[in-house]
Amino acid sequence: MLPPAQVVKVDAHAPDDAVIDRAGAILASGGLVAIPTETVYGLAAMALDERAAQKIFEAKGRPSTNPLIVHVADVAAARAHSSQWPALADRLAEAFWPGPLTIVAPKSDRVPDVVSAGGPTVALRVPRHPVPLALLTRSGLSLAAPSANRSEGVSPTTADHVLADLGDRIDMILDAGPSTGGIESTVVELLPVPRVLRLGLVSVAEIEACLGMKVARPEGGAGVARSPGQHRRHYAPRAKTYVTDDPVTMLARFAQQGLTAAWIAFGEESTDAHHGPIARMPNRAVDYARELYSALRRLDGANVDVIVISRPPTGPEWEAIHDRLSRASTDE
Ligand code: TXA
Ligand code: MG
Repeated sequence: MLPPAQVVKVDAHAPDDAVIDRAGAILASGGLVAIPTETVYGLAAMALDERAAQKIFEAKGRPSTNPLIVHVADVAAARAHSSQWPALADRLAEAFWPGPLTIVAPKSDRVPDVVSAGGPTVALRVPRHPVPLALLTRSGLSLAAPSANRSEGVSPTTADHVLADLGDRIDMILDAGPSTGGIESTVVELLPVPRVLRLGLVSVAEIEACLGMKVARPEGGAGVARSPGQHRRHYAPRAKTYVTDDPVTMLARFAQQGLTAAWIAFGEESTDAHHGPIARMPNRAVDYARELYSALRRLDGANVDVIVISRPPTGPEWEAIHDRLSRASTDE
């Protein structure tokens, strides 16, 4: 256990060089720094230093079988971490980097096995957020960074979320305010054929439009090891969580059973029937994504027995949201 992490405010649009260099110095000496990104907050360590990267697994309680995403400053740096940069990767990088897309490619020998969880590939992403971009550029480091939450929990979208989960286990938290994306990057592999391994902020439809071809989707179901983070229960609150088309009936049933409940309501739907904690979600997908993890964390923090979520609409821009809702929820 370390002394509590220093939380340092940093301007999201024009980060102060002195702050960035302080974070860079901690990272260069093998420390752990939580960083804002445009998706969620990440827990960063030097990617090419085995001991530094290993600390991430210890802080998060992450199984050593789950590989880390390596954040780099540009496509040239991404190529330098790969032994075989697929031709299609350049098309995707051109279209979506910097941004919330992670590309899996055969790894270079420089990438330690701890980062790739012993596998032959490495996941690479150039973030769009000015803070990590400045950190990558000024430090010259590549940074392994999974989401900065305890393993299997809900990803953090504010510095406070990180502090609550990991404050006694890391050196520094850069606080640039709430994440604007709100859910994680899309993870895609290109070899042998393009396949989305994790749904995320870039939709499958956008990737297909960019590549001019159909891409395979994540393999569903329990026990899938292809993208090891895709265990069925992940992104999960402590309370039992249910997604439903009929929240009023479900809430009434829980009340009858003597259970306390919170409700994540959709848009303008009436919540008069419910007296417990409520989060009301916006009706546009980008806004819904931005607020989802905060809502889950806040309601989970109210120590209710169950969280009932009104099912949002379907459509390409809602796909990743439905994925995260199903992972957060309890099988009935
Ligand atoms: O938006 C994001 O991607 C955030 C920010 C911080 O960049 N990071 C993030 O990392 O969500 P993490 O570790 O929570 O999720 C990474 C996902 C996991 O599902 C992991 O299994 C998968 O990417 N992954 C990492 N390396 C992989 C690889 N070589 N092959 C297949 N999947 C990989
Ligand atoms: Mg995660």
